[in-house]
Amino acid sequence: MDKKKRLGILTSGGDCAGLNAVISAVVEAASEKGWEVYGIHNGTDGITQKPHSYEVLTIHNFSDSPWPRLSGSYLGSLNKGVKMESLEDMSQRFAQGVKDLGLDAVIVVGGDGSMNIVSNYCKGSLVRMIGIPKTIDNDTPITEFSVGFQSAVQVCTSAVDSLELTARSHNRALIMEVMGRDAGHLAMHSALAGQADVCLVPEIPYTIDGVINKLKAIKASGRNHAVIVVSEGIKTEDGSHISSKKNMVGEAVYGGIGQYLCSEISSRYNEFQVRVTTLGHVQRSGVPVAFDRLLAALYGAKAVELLENGEDNKMVVWKNGHVDAVALSEVVKSGTTLLDPNSEYVKAAKALGMYVGEI
Ligand code: F6P
Repeated sequence: MDKKKRLGILTSGGDCAGLNAVISAVVEAASEKGWEVYGIHNGTDGITQKPHSYEVLTIHNFSDSPWPRLSGSYLGSLNKGVKMESLEDMSQRFAQGVKDLGLDAVIVVGGDGSMNIVSNYCKGSLVRMIGIPKTIDNDTPITEFSVGFQSAVQVCTSAVDSLELTARSHNRALIMEVMGRDAGHLAMHSALAGQADVCLVPEIPYTIDGVINKLKAIKASGRNHAVIVVSEGIKTEDGSHISSKKNMVGEAVYGGIGQYLCSEISSRYNEFQVRVTTLGHVQRSGVPVAFDRLLAALYGAKAVELLENGEDNKMVVWKNGHVDAVALSEVVKSGTTLLDPNSEYVKAAKALGMYVGEI
């Protein structure tokens, strides 16, 4: 890249803490090279819709503001909120928008879904793209960590701590339902960090009786309270997901499994009063923790470095303590990364006596 370049950056999918730190890192690294950065509004909409919606981001108007320290997305985002036209139409609209805005490349900060969708737009239109992984679900493939995950784990762990104290006061078993969609990473990490008694994740089958047996064992040990962490994506005993809404692409939005568990446990065992807390979107909006901000800095710098070296169609990743980049085609091929039931996390949970289901 010799002449002055213009990068577009957009955030796509559910928001999370650390997005603004990523945007800021890209602005800083690009400015160091004398490149311009256009912040694209509302995911890909700012490019595909007319009039295009964007603003020029500089270290003066963005990085030197409170935004990099805050959660949410300054640019706005869409979580499966666009009804897809055909891929061909969307690719054409995307390519036209990129041309209209004079962008040399687009940096997409998104999860596995966004990497898949936007990389397909780019493939069809020869637009240069670099992906930066983010999601509280931590299910983006190949990378060990996506921006936003650790901040969400912190919110959930603090909530487990709070629930433990009130459970203790009232001799209750308190259920906490967390997000994560079909992946149990968020539930398992926060259950381990918060020393919960039970953790139910979509990847491991469980029984209500198994949960009740754990509660009975707690009672027999002389303890009168318990905390149960449950991932929104687990199924009922008869194998259905609980969901009351659909997103714009027709997928079920999960929510309500905590209430189901509460009713089932209460109807079969009455030694503990059971209550439910559903954390909801508060998990996506915690203070960005240091590790997410560190990832943001490393990923942002790496994304700009890749483009400078003439590389594209890659996603930056964190592997074995290092930042690297992998082909987007590999990311798309790998699908979603679920929690491995044989992982050290699950092994540790079991070793500590947590009920995690029937492996
Ligand atoms: O993918 C991020 C996520 O927060 C999931 O954990 C959750 O299932 C979903 O988004 C919620 O979607 P929405 O933003 O539509 O409420």
